[in-house]
Amino acid sequence: MATHLHVSQGAPSHDFEGTPSLEIGQHDLLIVGPGVLGRLVAQTWRQEYPGCQVFGQTLTTDHHGELIEIGISPSLNWTRGKHKFPYIIFCAPPYQSSDYHGDIRLAALSWNGEGSFLFTSSSAPYDCNDNGSCDEDTPVVPIGRSRRTDILLNAENIVLEYGGSVVRLAGLYKEDKGAHAYWLEKGIVECRPDHILNLIHYEDAASLSVAVLKKQFRRHIFLGCDNHPLSRQEIIDLVNQSGKFSKKFEKFTGTDDPLGKRLNNSRTRQEVGWEPKYSSFAYFLETL
Ligand SMILES: NC(=O)c1ccc[n+]([C@@H]2O[C@H](COP(=O)([O-])OP(=O)(O)OC[C@H]3O[C@@H](n4cnc5c(N)ncnc54)[C@H](OP(=O)(O)O)[C@@H]3O)[C@@H](O)[C@H]2O)c1
Repeated sequence: MATHLHVSQGAPSHDFEGTPSLEIGQHDLLIVGPGVLGRLVAQTWRQEYPGCQVFGQTLTTDHHGELIEIGISPSLNWTRGKHKFPYIIFCAPPYQSSDYHGDIRLAALSWNGEGSFLFTSSSAPYDCNDNGSCDEDTPVVPIGRSRRTDILLNAENIVLEYGGSVVRLAGLYKEDKGAHAYWLEKGIVECRPDHILNLIHYEDAASLSVAVLKKQFRRHIFLGCDNHPLSRQEIIDLVNQSGKFSKKFEKFTGTDDPLGKRLNNSRTRQEVGWEPKYSSFAYFLETL
């Protein structure tokens, strides 16, 4: 058994190469991109494996103080150091790094191949834009059609190549973050109101990710959503009717932008043995 650092009272910060004497335990977790989702994953992971070490790799040192306070050992360079990790989750968004695919490859090379390597992708690559039904078997957009989906699909392929797994997430939200919060902030949004969106609460995305990590899948693609697709208009109507938000939304003004899809992840639920806590956006609003 490895000797663990004491991270529960706040984690130490590490510079390049980390601490030479650091020993990695069999349930230790590296989170590349410990943002909103990654921090929830850390919290859930620690409940599952009390005393384990959780490491976080970021792009800047801006949030290292916050990460240390919640027991995550931060570094800019864990995946460039000499340590290998049994569990790695890559949950950094694609738009902040100059070499996203290179970052993913370095993360894959830092996996010791024992526990799990998981990449949080998006449901955007499913090739459906007529508000039709869509599940894990729906074909993806062909490479070359869209830059956004190319980035995600190429990222997924790197992960699968190294034996890792992928969870494609629907729109993430919590009370103050997600589509509804963005629309409330804007007031008027140039998108069509009848576009169907799919959602998953941040806490549920974290519990699904942890469940997948724990089961040590290899080269699987999962889908994370709440199975309650809603149109933009339905979402904002629920928000307005809830009376839980002080800001007022005015209108969607789009008419000819693409429609969405209706996601169903029954297969993922069955394979992983997972159900969301927030079964729908309407239920989430009731809990506020
Ligand atoms: N938002 C959605 O609706 C949605 C939908 C589907 C999938 N997803 C995916 O869900 C995941 C989690 O999203 P989130 O909202 O939790 O993200 P977030 O809060 O925006 O995460 C930001 C964190 O990632 C770090 N970071 C960014 N790029 C990095 C890189 N290349 N290497 C290392 N760290 C990096 C940032 O570092 P600093 O501390 O230096 O800023 C910060 O800690 C992402 O993979 C995202 O693509 C999101």
